[in-house]
Formats: sequence, structure tokens, C-alpha cells
Amino acid sequence: MHTLMELHADKPTAYGELAAGLRALLEGERDLVANAANMAALIFWSLPQLNWVGFYLVEAERGDLLLGPFQGKPACVRIPVGRGVCGTAAARRATVVVPDVHAFPGHIACDSASNSEIVLPVIRSGRLLGVLDLDSPVQGRFDADDAHGLEALVRIFVESLGA
Ligand code: SME
Repeated sequence: MHTLMELHADKPTAYGELAAGLRALLEGERDLVANAANMAALIFWSLPQLNWVGFYLVEAERGDLLLGPFQGKPACVRIPVGRGVCGTAAARRATVVVPDVHAFPGHIACDSASNSEIVLPVIRSGRLLGVLDLDSPVQGRFDADDAHGLEALVRIFVESLGA
């Protein structure tokens, strides 16, 4: 059983603690689905004000983003690269922070509770594996501290998969 720790209120400190927790959680396992599932659960149950956390993984056949391990309500299954916030982060290969999803052209609404969102690309050896998506019911929930902290978590995830 994994025990969740209480994180500090200060965001950079909290992300440092979460990074240590994630390293310990993924230690000794290289399977992408298993590690993505545990990472989504760790983030969802550790950080405040979230209603959805999960991965969309690049599907080999069509190259779409396909729903992967997540926590939250059932979600959209397939997102073409370039569409929505997830597809935009995948196309740009860059983190996209959306303070108000209702103002983002092409936003794909999966859970009507979501008001803000952050999506990070997951890149391994120059290849896009997918994206990590976090949704919040709170407008403006995600800032640069979240982007930096979550990018560090994604690096730990990619390292866990091995060379
Ligand atoms: N809102 C995302 C779709 C995925 S859900 O939020 C889980 C988007 O616009 O890409």
C-alpha cells in the first residue's frame, strides 16, 4: 500500500516533495502503463483542486492521442494531434496552460466541471509518447510553478521507462 504524504502549501516545495514521492513510487518498474497509472493516481490524490488527471498516449496506427491511464470521470477517447488543448500541446511539443478553458478555441469538454487546464508533452529520446493532462474546476488554477513542477514529474516518468 502506498501512503500519501501531506504536501507543503508552497508550490515549489510541494512539487519537490511530490517528485521524491514519484521517484519512490516508480522505482524498479519500467512498464509505461503501470507507471502512468500510478503517476496519474499520485498527482490526482496529492494536489488540491483537480477533477481529472491522466495521459493521452500516441497511438501507433493513426498517430492520434488515445485515452490512457487516468483518474476522474470517463473522458473523450481519441483526440487528433492539433485538436483541443491536448492536441495543441502535442503538436507544439510544449506545455500549454489554459486559465479559462471556455476561452480556448477548440477546447474539448470532457467533464463540464473543468474550468482550467494544463497539458504537458511526454517526450522520450525525441519521440512524442503522449501528453499528461490536468483539469481543475477552479479558473486560473495552473501557473508557471505548476508547469515547472509537472515538467519535472514528467521527466521522472520518462526516466522510469529506461533507456
Ligand atoms: N480538454 C481536453 C480534452 C481531454 S479532457 O480534458 C480529459 C482538450 O481540450 O484537449
